Amino acid sequence: MKHLIQTDREIAEAIYREAERQHSKIELIASENFVSRAVMEAMGSVMTNKYAEGYPGKRYYGGCEWVDVAEKLAIERAKKLFNAEHANVQPLSGVPANLAVYAAFLETGDTFFGLSLSHGGHLSHGHKVSITGKWFRAVQYTVDRETEQINFDTLWKMAKEEKPKLIMTGASAYPRTLHWEKFREICDDIGAYFVADIAHIAGLVVAGLHPNPVPIADAVTTTTHKTLRGPRGAIILCKEEHAQAIDKAVFPGLQGGPHMHIIAAKAVAFKEAMTEEFREYQRQIVKNAKAFEEEFKRLGWRLVAGGTDTHLLLIDVKSKGLTGKQAEKLLDKAGITVNKNTIPFDTEKPFVASGIRIGTPAVTTRGMREEEMKKIARLIDKVLTHPDDEHVIEEVKGEVKELTDAFPLYPGIREELRKGLGL
Ligand SMILES: Cc1ncc(COP(=O)(O)O)c(C=O)c1O
Repeated sequence: MKHLIQTDREIAEAIYREAERQHSKIELIASENFVSRAVMEAMGSVMTNKYAEGYPGKRYYGGCEWVDVAEKLAIERAKKLFNAEHANVQPLSGVPANLAVYAAFLETGDTFFGLSLSHGGHLSHGHKVSITGKWFRAVQYTVDRETEQINFDTLWKMAKEEKPKLIMTGASAYPRTLHWEKFREICDDIGAYFVADIAHIAGLVVAGLHPNPVPIADAVTTTTHKTLRGPRGAIILCKEEHAQAIDKAVFPGLQGGPHMHIIAAKAVAFKEAMTEEFREYQRQIVKNAKAFEEEFKRLGWRLVAGGTDTHLLLIDVKSKGLTGKQAEKLLDKAGITVNKNTIPFDTEKPFVASGIRIGTPAVTTRGMREEEMKKIARLIDKVLTHPDDEHVIEEVKGEVKELTDAFPLYPGIREELRKGLGL
């Protein structure tokens, strides 16, 4: 990164500090991951220079022959990975991808269903502060009070009453398997589009560890940067019959020039996701989440929905007298990064929340396994059960350092920047 260091030392140093932060903390934010050097190289390539409005073979600019190669590869690989009839790889991120699907299937003011944010859904599934909740009549469904999972009888009844034109499902904080076929049945009964957002679980879907909604949904969106471990961005997968509507909604509906360097990096990530190594990585993500489940239960913590089938868990910290905000702050001081999260029927505001969400994709990329998860669970327990004890924080900090040093992250990048900056 010598050019960067020469041109802009402040940014180079911020990048170096961020690389050190990523290395020295235990990253448990369920939506984060660490991409490969190959993915980063594609992102940092000359493809950032090219305008390519349109789609491969039908561009509004000349000179698109090589970006066409990249986009076609990304499309073909995405279709193969998810068994899809059509793929649009241009969405800039998860929210624009969801907005494009609504734009393709709905008129403003139409009714659609989305899982409430405080019950595990995402802002872009119709929350009132999101444009998706302002431009459409978004009705929010919730999980069942008892099971903390989706109750399909209740949903079906609601769907018959409200007659949504589209049902969106998928989640940011739902630890259990999503039963797509039940959504399809309800949508068929009321004549609605069925859309699934698999942003969090796409990697698990690719590895066959979570059912794939693509063959039965009208459209599926996913970000590419979570379990899928690609660059920051998103894709939309759909049936051939909806291909034109989806493509038109993305461009020219919502976006201009696609980010070709990111599309190239998506293609690289999809190639990586086709390997046996990636499947093994996904299996380990789930095993690690199960190890967390076992250890947290043994230590007496209440887990939302009773545990996990996926890469994430929601821990009810209120049951031990803390708020999510306090827990996040305490753990951060000890070098463990999590996010506060509302739990179903939370009485706290989202900025305070009664839970924390923890996920295993990032630590698994570093090579950590069940043994390390159990150790991390014990460290979390130690911090949260001694909230006023600075000695405990210091002790845990030391153990975090030992763990992170044993699983180094991006050693080449950190060393190059440190030397280049003379630090
Ligand atoms: C289920 C789900 N959908 C969409 C998004 C939005 O993705 P982005 O932040 O890339 O817009 C997220 C992000 O966390 C998500 O969890």
